[in-house]
Amino acid sequence: MLVNLCTLLFLLYFIASFPLISSQNYEYDSTIKTMEEFSGYPFQEHGFKDSSSALSVDIESLQRQIDELASFSDTPAPSVTRVLYSEKDVLARRYIKNLMGLAGLSVKEDAVGNIFGRWEGSEPEIAAVSTGSHIDAIPFSGKYDGVVGVLGAIEAINALKRYAGFKPKRSLEVIMFTSEEPTRFGISCLGSRLLAGSKELAERLETTVDNQDISFSDAARFSGYAHEDVSTVFLNKGHYHAFIELHIEQGPILEEEGTSIGVVTAIASPASIKVDFEGNGGHAGAVLMPMRNDAGLAAAELSLAVEKHVLESGSIDTVGTVGILELHPGAINSIPSKSHLEIDTRDIDEKRRNKVIEKIHQSALNISRNRGVKLSEFKIINQDPPALSEDLIIKATESACKELNLSHKKMISRAYHDSLFMARISPMGMIFIPCYKGYSHKPEEFAAPVDIANGVRVLALTLAKLSLT
Ligand code: GLV
Ligand code: MN
Ligand code: MN
Repeated sequence: MLVNLCTLLFLLYFIASFPLISSQNYEYDSTIKTMEEFSGYPFQEHGFKDSSSALSVDIESLQRQIDELASFSDTPAPSVTRVLYSEKDVLARRYIKNLMGLAGLSVKEDAVGNIFGRWEGSEPEIAAVSTGSHIDAIPFSGKYDGVVGVLGAIEAINALKRYAGFKPKRSLEVIMFTSEEPTRFGISCLGSRLLAGSKELAERLETTVDNQDISFSDAARFSGYAHEDVSTVFLNKGHYHAFIELHIEQGPILEEEGTSIGVVTAIASPASIKVDFEGNGGHAGAVLMPMRNDAGLAAAELSLAVEKHVLESGSIDTVGTVGILELHPGAINSIPSKSHLEIDTRDIDEKRRNKVIEKIHQSALNISRNRGVKLSEFKIINQDPPALSEDLIIKATESACKELNLSHKKMISRAYHDSLFMARISPMGMIFIPCYKGYSHKPEEFAAPVDIANGVRVLALTLAKLSLT
């Protein structure tokens, strides 16, 4: 009986250890060969001896980190709300810096809290290859938007470090960008815009306040970023050899088609506009309908005009949203005397998007005239051009997918990303992974662990390739 038990245990041990034993003899696989051909550098020199563990991703740890990070939220699970320079944002930043440290990266922060974790390459003086995304989350959103591209990037570095002796030639940097979402100060991609050298934004930040009238600099100081001169954040063109961002698709295509990876070729051009109307207000019972100058109805009419002008473009690529609509004083028995709208409109075709903006402006003027309300503000907050991915990065990503046997397709990004601005100072590329029904910016957002692991492996291999070019 005892002998039988021992035999059984031995058999179990043997079976469990088989992949390990067999893989130790597996010294030179096609991935290494292709990486060598691609880069022109022999990987054996860098210590690639055993490819069996080739880019193994610790998805359990990564998923745990995604879940832990989601707990730094100002709204209950499964929703996540993490707004720039809030207490939860500060705690989440600490969490990221800690993970970067554990990955052996040297950690640095700039004046607005962009966080950089660097793995020094064998030639540290040449331009680094960078990757990253954001961890701020709009109100009542999910836990994957941006987060996959930060935690996934740190895990990609861990995977490369596990990849027996691999040492990058160019340094590799993970970036956590400050405030990709415009929630607090109305400015999207604040950190990456500044990195890309936006003087206009640096100036604007001197007078920017949030809706509680807290200035940008006071909010930054609260979080420990007390530097006055945000232009110290600017990076020169050429600072990075390449930048690549891993992100959930935020659309349904990859999941519907059963494709593992999206290789982004371009990012649509976003714009946002703030509009204020002012009327006379008054008593909801006493003021007769012909006597009214209802700022609320002006806002409602403009919202419908946004939809109309977007649809008039005739292209499925043109979109427009009124995501914020506020009425003052906000009482059921008071005619709104003020209204405030924030309009988001985007298109892959910049000219077509600009035409929509002109039409929205024209409608706002007409509505103001016809309703006898004042158009007290029509302010274009940003009107950004689209960005194209760089061929070098597209090719590196595609060949990484091939080597990892992952299906892939080229696609555009309709959402904006920090990559839109990194493209101004560096060759840029993006890797998309499927997400459940394309849901994003809501608590139901979900990406399957297997898809996240695939994305991280593609990112790691692409970084490895680019670090050797
Ligand atoms: C990013 O969050 C976007 O709105 O596209
Ligand atoms: Mn987002
Ligand atoms: Mn995002």
